[in-house]
Amino acid sequence: MCGIVAYLGAKEASPILINGLKRLEYRGYDSAGIALLNGGMHVYKTRGKVSDLEGLIEDKDLSGTTGIAHTRWATHGEPNDINAHPHTSPNGKISLIHNGIIENYAILKEELKQRGYVFTSDTDTEVLVYLIQDIYEHEKTDFAETVRLALSQVTGAYAIVVLSQENPDMLVAARKGSPLVVGIGEGEYFMASDAAPIVEYTRQVVYPGEEEIVVVSLKDGLKIMTIAKTEKTPYIQTLELNLTALEKGGFPHFMLKEIYEQPRTVRDSMRGRLNMEQGLVVLGGIQDYTRKLLNARRIIIVGCGTSWHAGLVGEYLIEELARIPVEVEYASEFRYRNPIIFEDDIVIAISQSGETADTLAAIEMAKAKGATILGICNVVGSSIARASHAGSYTHAGPEIGVASTKAFTSQVTILTLLALMLAEKKGSLAASRYYRLLHELNSIPEKIEKALKANEDIKKIAEIFSKTSNALYLGRGINFPVALEGALKLKEISYIHAEGYPAAEMKHGPIALIDAEMPVLVIATRKGHYDKMVSNIQEVKARKGVIIAIVSEGDDNVESMADYSIEIPETDEMLVPLLATIPLQLLSYHMALIRGCNVDQPRNLAKSVTVE
Ligand code: AGP
Repeated sequence: MCGIVAYLGAKEASPILINGLKRLEYRGYDSAGIALLNGGMHVYKTRGKVSDLEGLIEDKDLSGTTGIAHTRWATHGEPNDINAHPHTSPNGKISLIHNGIIENYAILKEELKQRGYVFTSDTDTEVLVYLIQDIYEHEKTDFAETVRLALSQVTGAYAIVVLSQENPDMLVAARKGSPLVVGIGEGEYFMASDAAPIVEYTRQVVYPGEEEIVVVSLKDGLKIMTIAKTEKTPYIQTLELNLTALEKGGFPHFMLKEIYEQPRTVRDSMRGRLNMEQGLVVLGGIQDYTRKLLNARRIIIVGCGTSWHAGLVGEYLIEELARIPVEVEYASEFRYRNPIIFEDDIVIAISQSGETADTLAAIEMAKAKGATILGICNVVGSSIARASHAGSYTHAGPEIGVASTKAFTSQVTILTLLALMLAEKKGSLAASRYYRLLHELNSIPEKIEKALKANEDIKKIAEIFSKTSNALYLGRGINFPVALEGALKLKEISYIHAEGYPAAEMKHGPIALIDAEMPVLVIATRKGHYDKMVSNIQEVKARKGVIIAIVSEGDDNVESMADYSIEIPETDEMLVPLLATIPLQLLSYHMALIRGCNVDQPRNLAKSVTVE
């Protein structure tokens, strides 16, 4: 996610702003910038790190007691100096920083272009600051009202801070779907994406609500109104958290924070792509390749680790819903086995980091053989994204924990959208099932929220099994890859040997492992091979195995057979992976913690494997 910092007061703003950006570096970013008011406006920004920004400004005029600063996590537009924030209005008098996604930026940009505006960047953010100038000049409204009118035209998610050369003793901020906190000092105000940049100056904070606009001015103090222009009384709280805890959003580890971010990150993966009113899926990044996808002889999905597991889920989704043949390949194997690739093949590369060497090499090889490459990456402008002909970003925000969690559910969300988009265009799915799936997918973020409520029960199960040396994960159909992913999570952070298997395969060998010491995780939700999973549970129980079952809410039947069960909300069979993976992530997290493992940086592992 982007990082926002702003200051209004009597002190020189630049050191506070730069220091604040450093407090937000943990969030991951690709560029940084600052804007200062000192009679005129000075804007300095660059691709790279905060240290690069410091290098850029070391000989510049940094005077000014009003300023905004930003670290950018690109969503629209490559990471470069032009796309970095702050963005400034054409007349150079208004500057804005933004965290979030403006879904209707293209429409707004077109309207502004028709009014003669010329844009300099590829970002959605620049559209907003141009719109603010346009309204300010035409409506002659005060600055705060101008920002409110502009935001009334915006759909999407935002946390913004805007400064105006004509209103130097004021900052206007607003949020919807992205975090923002306001710090209140003695005659000074701080604003930031979270409290980390603020806590060393003041512990008096206000957390603006959804669709609220915050105006701070040296003359009138702090005021809050809603987008609908209703005055709100600020609720001032005292911050208790220390700096380290703040960077993790109050969670003890990045991994747990990222597990709990999934209702929002899955929503962000769908944002601007799932149009419930029109019953349509729009994947803007690949729409030029829709015809190619529909006519493809086959789709080859390549990835590594968790991304490969997401690809396996994608195979079930695309073949079941869109009836297009799919093959899923370990990138490391695919790149070396001289595969047969046809020119009408589509290769989808899945990669959170966008820098995994095996995956990058695999797509370069496939591209050289004439295939079309589509990327599903989380890092904008990453090597794999740039090596692809087109693609869709997952918009999951930086994933700091080495063990992939929110990236997986975001990847699966994009693959679900892709399968539904193709199915709708091919007419391969009954309209009733298509619309039911759209509706069900739209409800997944709330259902993930519900699945997370089992955390305390899962922690108790982890306490029972944390000393086990082995574990077996079983799933059928679209839940087989979830079993693989659950096993990978456990082994990579708790160092317990865990294997994922198609449940039916158990009788071809793994059943020899079953005994009273062996916990067997089974995904036995009501949808999809339920009866067969019940049989597998009975086979394990007959050999004194111990069953931990992921079950559908209220399924007393399996719960009566299992030694332990964890409930997840009901959903369509095709969407179960988005929910079943949640308890498995939490179980691995708690077992690793009890074993004293470093859950965020497990031994021997790197977040991105950029070497062979
Ligand atoms: C998953 O928890 C691991 N961190 C690892 O398997 C990872 O998924 C794999 O290295 C692929 O990384 P990528 O998605 O960045 O390409």
